[in-house]
Amino acid sequence: MQIPAVNLKPCLDATEPAWRQHLGELFARMHFILGDQLSGFEKEYASACSARHAIGVGTGTAAIELSLRAARITGPNQEVITSALTAPFTGIGIVSAGCRLRLADVDPETLLLDAADAGNRAGKRTAALVPVHLYGQPCDLNAFRGVARTLHAVLIQDACQAHGARFHRRPLTSYSPFVCYSFYPTKNLGCLGDGGAVVTNQAGIRKRLMMLRDGGRRGGQVAMVRGINSRLDEMQCCYLRAFLPKLAEWNADRARTASLYDALLKDCDGITRVRTSAESVNHLYVVRAARRNRLREYLSKLGIATGVHYPAPLHLMPAFRESGLRRGDLPHAEKACREIVSLPLWPYMPQQTAMRVAERVKEFYGG
Ligand SMILES: Cc1ncc(COP(=O)(O)O)c(C=O)c1O
Repeated sequence: MQIPAVNLKPCLDATEPAWRQHLGELFARMHFILGDQLSGFEKEYASACSARHAIGVGTGTAAIELSLRAARITGPNQEVITSALTAPFTGIGIVSAGCRLRLADVDPETLLLDAADAGNRAGKRTAALVPVHLYGQPCDLNAFRGVARTLHAVLIQDACQAHGARFHRRPLTSYSPFVCYSFYPTKNLGCLGDGGAVVTNQAGIRKRLMMLRDGGRRGGQVAMVRGINSRLDEMQCCYLRAFLPKLAEWNADRARTASLYDALLKDCDGITRVRTSAESVNHLYVVRAARRNRLREYLSKLGIATGVHYPAPLHLMPAFRESGLRRGDLPHAEKACREIVSLPLWPYMPQQTAMRVAERVKEFYGG
């Protein structure tokens, strides 16, 4: 039997009546961009995040770019620090805004951006910090808030993998004015194409983002500022509105599978769990694995798909040479990229599937 890395079908099946109803409303109205489905979803998502406003945009990458543009951080003399261990899209969002990308190392146990290292690498030109809630686990937002205050820098959270997460039980927006989300299909809350949002408590930021995402217009045909074209479309909102009420249940299901993997792989030689807190929403289940590539080949031959998030840190990706860093400069992120592997995980994944995966992993290490 084949085991995919992710299976979206059970979530689609479980919500079919709701998304069909929204699609029906959309086709009756025939208004496909910036319509009722988006404004409805924005209200519902803001409320789910315990925040005042959500602004739907085209992608998570654009959410980061637009947050920087809204904060007027767009110049090559303005530096933005993020984690070396993240999706390349975090870096792309930063460079697309026109500012300079700087990278810092991760904590070797959690693989989250290390606030102290980010602070040490910051300087007079540091205009923003972008911690990434990698694999669904929130960064230490108290530490980042402290570093950002000292530097007079803006704190922009990359929560593209952390829908539903809170930090110390408080909403993410209580720590910074910009929280960025992606609705790429495999995310904890995903649509059936590309989508994203910025969540904030500030009405002024909302107003600016609504203009920037829509070509700099204010509803008419005149561009007031140089914006971009990045709107969350109505069709995607039909699915997002159907999936959102299930987010907490799906996150709880991910947590159950992650705990099961933890228990099954606890004593497995060759496997070290990446440390997570109870506040992780378990977007991915990631372990460090000895002979990682061999393990992946072995599992693949048995029909078990795995992923690597990510095979190279940003400073070693050709697109980000401008970071000025070389191999050896961010040792924790570099080592992690050689060792990490993401095991299959999705809501409604049968327990037997996780057990089969864990058995095969143990078999590989001779256990
Ligand atoms: C951590 C992180 N940041 C940013 C992004 C960008 O999101 P999107 O693919 O919606 O542009 C992603 C998703 O790929 C991500 O995982």
